[in-house]
Amino acid sequence: MAAITLKDINKTYGDGFRAVQDVNLEIADGEFVILVGPSGCGKSTLLRMIVGLEDITSGEMFIGGQRVNEKAPRDRNLSMVFQNYALYPHLTVYENIAFPLRLSKTPDKEVDERVRRAADLLELNEHLERKPANLSGGQRQRVAMGRAIVREAQAFLFDEPLSNLDAKLRGQMRTEISRLQKRLGITTVYVTHDQVEAMTLGDRVVVLRRGVVQQVATPRELYENPVNLFVAGFIGSPPMNFISATVVGGRLHTPFGEWTLPESRSADLSGREVVLIGARPEAFEDASIVSDTVRDHGVVFDATIDVTEWLGNEQYAYVPYEAPEDIRAQLAELERELDSEALRTQLVVALDASSRIPEGTPASLWLDLRRVHVFDPETGENLTVKAMAQRGEATPEPARGNGGPPAEPGDSPAEPAAP
Ligand SMILES: Nc1ncnc2c1ncn2[C@@H]1O[C@H](COP(=O)(O)OP(=O)(O)OP(=O)(O)O)[C@@H](O)[C@H]1O
Ligand SMILES: [Mg+2]
Repeated sequence: MAAITLKDINKTYGDGFRAVQDVNLEIADGEFVILVGPSGCGKSTLLRMIVGLEDITSGEMFIGGQRVNEKAPRDRNLSMVFQNYALYPHLTVYENIAFPLRLSKTPDKEVDERVRRAADLLELNEHLERKPANLSGGQRQRVAMGRAIVREAQAFLFDEPLSNLDAKLRGQMRTEISRLQKRLGITTVYVTHDQVEAMTLGDRVVVLRRGVVQQVATPRELYENPVNLFVAGFIGSPPMNFISATVVGGRLHTPFGEWTLPESRSADLSGREVVLIGARPEAFEDASIVSDTVRDHGVVFDATIDVTEWLGNEQYAYVPYEAPEDIRAQLAELERELDSEALRTQLVVALDASSRIPEGTPASLWLDLRRVHVFDPETGENLTVKAMAQRGEATPEPARGNGGPPAEPGDSPAEPAAP
């Protein structure tokens, strides 16, 4: 087990493509870190540089305090589990797990002990004499992990290990990997483009966009305080709503009326004409079921719901609206890049399952203004989080290629939080 440190890591491929740019990341011993981002953002490249399958163009990589830039993959003692598991079809489960030990000429007795211990852990005891072709996807996955475990590697590296499995099995395997990682306490770096996996598995999540780290934070911090539009749009399903607003004398003119943000959500709006307001679906509610004391923390507005989806425990309602052309174009661009569900100019609001607003009729909705964010539509920067960081209420990672563990309180040059 070991800590992994990436210092100013860059990767430029032979054809000149810069796949990874100035990545700094400090992965603690035993930590579970997720690399997430849309296809082509450099996740696999980064992982392959850690494991040694890809040269590092510039920067330094340390594993357990030792510089490994020049070390061959086998000398780094890391264990990589790929999407397709790479099991040997002609070998039994037992021999597949034992494979790395056979390669290193480990004595039979020790091989047997280690394989059985791993099989115990992975509940593969009954299957040791079977061939991979006869196993389920989840069982194959566990065999691949067994092979990683017997090597007693310093860290586990996973590249989309669950993407071949159906939804139900993915869910099961996700829980299993999480449990196993906790039990073994092995440093783990896990690549996925699935934000549900990213949010449920990791201690911390690294969000990548075109080779550049956007934010490194706990799942909760990413969800509640995304540093920019990209992270805000990528994390969460259905995605955060982005509503355009013009700034008039510190007030926000939106398609749904005039809003004034509470102190806790305020942002520096000086010199700005247009901003985007981000509000997650669950920040909305059917105004008729919001209690009077709560209502004061938000705004009530009229909207026409065109479709509702009732899911038993909650329901989603869709509210189309008009937005300025340039904002529409920008959201469409973000949507393409995120490869996401529609960030179209419609609100997706989550209402209590007991709400009975009929489709196609004007309804009264409530928005909790304590939960909104203000974004700069051009740079994408989250101005609310920026202001919070300045007040010392949030500790977002710098938006540019600067990972590392969350700053200690008092680390930042921020003023003390307002009482
Ligand atoms: N051998 C190569 N030569 C040139 N460019 C490459 C090479 N391998 C990858 N790339 C480019 O580097 C970028 C990052 O690739 P990478 O495989 O790391 O993406 P990824 O985030 O793992 O994507 P996915 O989710 O699709 O697996 C991509 O734009 C890709 O086209
Ligand atoms: Mg990949």
